Amino acid sequence: MTSNFAYTVILLGAPGSGKGTQAKSIAEQYDLFHFSTGDMLREEISSNSEIGVQVKKIIDMGKFPSDDLILDIVHKKLFELKKSTQGVVFDGFPRTLTQALELEKMFEHGDLPSPLVFLVDVSAGDIITRIMGRYTCVTCGTVYHDQYVKPRVSGVCDSCGSSQFMRRSDDTEEIIRQRLDVYNQQTKPLIDFYSSKGVLNRLDGSKPVAEVTSAIFKIIEGNSSISVAR
Ligand code: AP5
Repeated sequence: MTSNFAYTVILLGAPGSGKGTQAKSIAEQYDLFHFSTGDMLREEISSNSEIGVQVKKIIDMGKFPSDDLILDIVHKKLFELKKSTQGVVFDGFPRTLTQALELEKMFEHGDLPSPLVFLVDVSAGDIITRIMGRYTCVTCGTVYHDQYVKPRVSGVCDSCGSSQFMRRSDDTEEIIRQRLDVYNQQTKPLIDFYSSKGVLNRLDGSKPVAEVTSAIFKIIEGNSSISVAR
């Protein structure tokens, strides 16, 4: 199976580092699909599906659902996307070595083009502040922050005009600390994994959103393996 995809971007980073915020900008700028496994799991939860009921308990403990479940969701979605998009920006996938190795098989088999990987690096202290202040538009999913990323008109979403917002059930201080532990144990090893392959780009994620975005765009546009078509 040869891919129709032209680009693969992977965003690595701790919970709350800003992966979702940056993935949205990359997807809009380069016309890629914003592939967030977290959003896909939350859709399962909202639909009250059998999988949704199972994963809600796991996510609300700050833990990861099984690799089999995640990989099943990822394979199905990629198959569906093949006809409709020129590439994907992975946000929160892979996050275990098993998931990364499975993704490697897709690169080796030509199902996906080789990736450009970004690590959004932020200190643990900043992460807690960012997650505790996060809220999301119920209608379109745009992410805001009480202090750092406010809508232009207070209480009105910039993207869709909705005035309904929500906070995630896993964004409590206790669960964040658990999520950080799981990140350190299971996801952090991927930094060395991609670094040893020479595809990792480290970003100072403590900078304001626009500065991080512009650093990413600069790297994408300077990368000869990605021909930028907008
Ligand atoms: P997921 O939804 O992916 O959560 P996460 O990785 O914990 O990351 P977050 O969404 O919390 O943060 P983010 O890095 O996207 O930051 P954001 O841009 O929102 O996954 C949730 C759960 O699902 C996981 O815990 C796990 O259980 C499960 N899961 C998902 N994928 C899985 C997988 N592949 N395998 C196993 N389990 C999986 O920014 C955070 C806040 O900071 C926002 O308020 C934002 O406005 C603000 N902000 C962003 N950038 C900046 C900046 N530069 N300066 C100031 N503020 C900023």
